Amino acid sequence: MTIPRHPRVLSGVQPTGDLHLGNYLGALVKFTRLQHEMETFIFVADLHAITQWQDPKKLKSQVREIAAAYLASGLDPKIATIFPQSAVPEHAELAWVFNCVARLGWLDRMTQFKDKAGKHKERESVGLYTYPVLQAADILIYKATHVPVGEDQKQHLELTRDIAQKFNHDFEVPDFFPLPEAVVEGPGARIMSLRDGSSKMSKSDPSDYSRINLTDDADTILQKVRKARTDPEPLPDTLEELKARPEAQNLVGIYAALDGRTSAEVLAEFAGVGFGTFKPRLADLAVAKLSPIGEAMRRYMSDPAEIDRILAAGAARAREVAAPTLAEVKSIVGYWAG
Ligand code: TYM
Repeated sequence: MTIPRHPRVLSGVQPTGDLHLGNYLGALVKFTRLQHEMETFIFVADLHAITQWQDPKKLKSQVREIAAAYLASGLDPKIATIFPQSAVPEHAELAWVFNCVARLGWLDRMTQFKDKAGKHKERESVGLYTYPVLQAADILIYKATHVPVGEDQKQHLELTRDIAQKFNHDFEVPDFFPLPEAVVEGPGARIMSLRDGSSKMSKSDPSDYSRINLTDDADTILQKVRKARTDPEPLPDTLEELKARPEAQNLVGIYAALDGRTSAEVLAEFAGVGFGTFKPRLADLAVAKLSPIGEAMRRYMSDPAEIDRILAAGAARAREVAAPTLAEVKSIVGYWAG
């Protein structure tokens, strides 16, 4: 019989550039919703960030910026634990143990490494390769059960489950680690580039017109939506017909996610309508939803001491949960210091 688990949410975002609409709809919106349903831990992944070069003079302020985005999008530090990864050393210590549990063959299959490394993988850091192992440690150090992420993180969640299962099996501690679930449902799970419906919206796309950033002003949002690539046909009646039109599908999905509706509900309202009408409606909705977040981010960023206070309190709370898990792991593994 498996013991019912204390439900716990964990997720994080890397401080590696401006947050965009994909991060917001794929992750931040869900963090804010779930904090009212389960105990919630949300961190800023600065250990992950340095797997690719980051300017040390900027990293701390990039961490504060992500924290500001969390707060601006509605995460409440009185309810959720918000902290920087580097302030909780238990993540890195557990990652070492998991480096010895995970198999090379498992990591060889990770598509995100292949995408990031491109043709020159031998020139990438070893950290970038073992990145998903650290991600598993982030999750399992809290014995988290629910991980709200965009669709691109699903494979890392499967790896996390494999690591948990192998640890539990090899050390004969059935049920020690839970097998956490990715929370990926809804139209915001995979937001695509505004310039190309076949590639995902991404911080690293060289074209700023491919994404809407959380800090974009109203004018920029309007322009980006107006210039978004589309086709000349009006919106169809059914989701089935939308499938063959990736750019149209993406804009309908964005509208649905911003408005808290399904794509089918949006089509029911806009079937037969052309983009000349739909785009201004989408732009107005995006401005209405995102402008207050951008403004709140700027307000939080003007008081870095307050952000640091929230992050330090969150880190202390996170360590209260992480430290006992690590102590148990050390003893299970048989460390001299365990
Ligand atoms: P990161 O920083 O790349 O992205 C943060 C979150 O945004 C989601 N996301 C998207 N969702 C929908 N459409 C898009 N176009 C889009 N682009 C990004 C991502 O899926 C993610 O949820 N490895 C993680 C950070 C991480 C983490 C963890 C997450 C480290 N440890 C433990 C959860 C649990 C990452 O690089 O996210």
